[in-house]
Amino acid sequence: MFVSTDSDPQGTRRDFLYVATAATGAVAGGAAVWPLINQMNPSADVTALSSIEVDISGIEPGTQLTVKFLGKPVFIRRRTDDEIKAARDLDISTLRDGESRNANIEGDASDVNRAMDETGEWLVMIGVCTHLGCVPLGDAGDFGGWFCPCHGSHYDTSGRIRKGPAPENLAIPLTSFIDENTIKLG
Ligand code: FES
Repeated sequence: MFVSTDSDPQGTRRDFLYVATAATGAVAGGAAVWPLINQMNPSADVTALSSIEVDISGIEPGTQLTVKFLGKPVFIRRRTDDEIKAARDLDISTLRDGESRNANIEGDASDVNRAMDETGEWLVMIGVCTHLGCVPLGDAGDFGGWFCPCHGSHYDTSGRIRKGPAPENLAIPLTSFIDENTIKLG
């Protein structure tokens, strides 16, 4: 094997810079800070960036699955009839944030603009509090939805901010059904 003491160190450094740059770009939208070890693994980051499919067949009504996508938790909740009713009966003019905050549907914060399906059974949200970024707890708070314990933000069963310092409803990422048992994120 031919080895050049002049060119290899440069080539190695160039390769490393390229890899680090590519990886940083890939995760920029999903995570503000990643350990260097993750920046050196572009294939995993690129895979995570594109999309993931989630099996939802085991999620019972009234429970949620949390998955990690783009470095953030994503809540996939299968709502009960009572949760859907509470979300849909609300007069949305009373909301602090009147926007859907849904990457799939622009519009007001009506529950039909936030739920994933027409019946409202499935609600998928990025599990990051819109105040300062803590992860809210499910089945908690004054409105039966999510509660962020960091500074006391209460979200309702549609993930809309109802009380506390958070300024916006929980964000909804790009989602779609692959089939009745599989959701695609991204
Ligand atoms: S980060 Fe959630 S209330 Fe402050």
